Amino acid sequence: MRELLHATTERAVRYLEGLSERTVAPAPEALDRLKELDHPLPVEPTRPERVMELLDEMGSPATVASAGGRFFGFVVGGTLPAALAANWLAGAWDQCAGLVALSPISAALEEIALGWLVDLFGLPAGTGGAFVTGATMANFSALAAARHALLARAGWDVEAQGLFGAPPITVVVGDEVHASPLKALGLLGLGRERVVRVPVDGQGRMRAGALPRISGPTIVCIQAGSVNTGAFDPAAEICLVAHAADAWVHVDGAFGLWAAASPERAHLTAGVNQADSWATDAHKWLNVPYDSGIVFVREPQHLRAATAASAAYLVEGKGREPEQYTPEMSRRARGVEVWAALLSLGRSGLADLVERTCRYATRFADGLKAAGWEVLNDVVLNQVLVSFGDAETTQRVITAIQSDGTCWCGGTVWQGHTAMRISVSSWATTEDDVERSLAAILRIAATESKG
Ligand SMILES: Cc1ncc(COP(=O)(O)O)c(C=O)c1O
Repeated sequence: MRELLHATTERAVRYLEGLSERTVAPAPEALDRLKELDHPLPVEPTRPERVMELLDEMGSPATVASAGGRFFGFVVGGTLPAALAANWLAGAWDQCAGLVALSPISAALEEIALGWLVDLFGLPAGTGGAFVTGATMANFSALAAARHALLARAGWDVEAQGLFGAPPITVVVGDEVHASPLKALGLLGLGRERVVRVPVDGQGRMRAGALPRISGPTIVCIQAGSVNTGAFDPAAEICLVAHAADAWVHVDGAFGLWAAASPERAHLTAGVNQADSWATDAHKWLNVPYDSGIVFVREPQHLRAATAASAAYLVEGKGREPEQYTPEMSRRARGVEVWAALLSLGRSGLADLVERTCRYATRFADGLKAAGWEVLNDVVLNQVLVSFGDAETTQRVITAIQSDGTCWCGGTVWQGHTAMRISVSSWATTEDDVERSLAAILRIAATESKG
């Protein structure tokens, strides 16, 4: 074991140190070689050293260098050193995080990290939460809690009876809702398409004045940070209207919620803490390893009622049993990495991470505008949308940027306009990464836009 793990550390360090020199997208030859791994399972064992040799030699070159500083696709952060190291140690511990009896350390760190986050995000005292795979499962869990609370109030036990014959729940979303809450609504039997869509403004913010008249059991799903523009729905106004009608307000804050940790950006989250539930990711802006999402519910008994299960052999102590608050029973100890990341950054480090990445996004936007390209959004956070002309030209530029390999940016369609997205979400991004990437984008755009 000792030699294998030491050798693996060497491989991991070599991989990370090599990221600054390699292309961000994997080379086509590296992808071609993956075919060599596709053979029938051998009858005889393979030595662990040989398994790792294969994994590193074939696998490492076939990765996307999203752990490095020049990956700006989706909303993906690299892993902080303390979070990666904690992940390794927790891997060695091999803890099942479902029950205190199975992992007292995981249960303790989860509770501590949840408490720190409730404080950092300014959520109401008494808010509870849980660790799940990502924002989609956090949205799912929060919406399950909402479904429970609203139907219980209407005299219906949804966990016992299901939705057949239940009072209908109206779900209100903004027209720029992320696909994630819709997916969660589909899984919960609330329907992806029976939502009431509220018109949005040019930044994708829900128009509070256009909310429908709310009556009966209703969930209003708002967004803290649009994946395209970074814009926030007007939470305070929406919570006021929704709560006056006894609706449940849920916030999808997959990355935007972290703005609350930065004195410079916290104003964007004004009113968000008046909601009833929140979903966020730690694998995005907190930069912990995949996968890691967190759900928060103001009255955690609703989350518990929606997700708890018991069996004679599942020993329960007097305290909080983690599995009573998540859709899963057995799961890995994600709280360990979140705790490690938060402790290693401290409040000031987290604020700096948010502010630095936002500053880099502004630098990208300014550089692109100075070169004559159209930035389609107000860059209030870490997201930039840029158009290089018509849809075809913009797509050609995106493809060329990806295959050039200096950096990686993805595409989107924003309110009818094809655009390139630049999302700066990694602690590993340096000023030099930004300048190198900007120079590559401008060089490629100038060439490709000529056709
Ligand atoms: C606003 C928003 N919600 C939800 C998600 C989905 O997050 P996950 O992939 O962690 O489930 C994303 C991902 O980018 C997002 O930006």
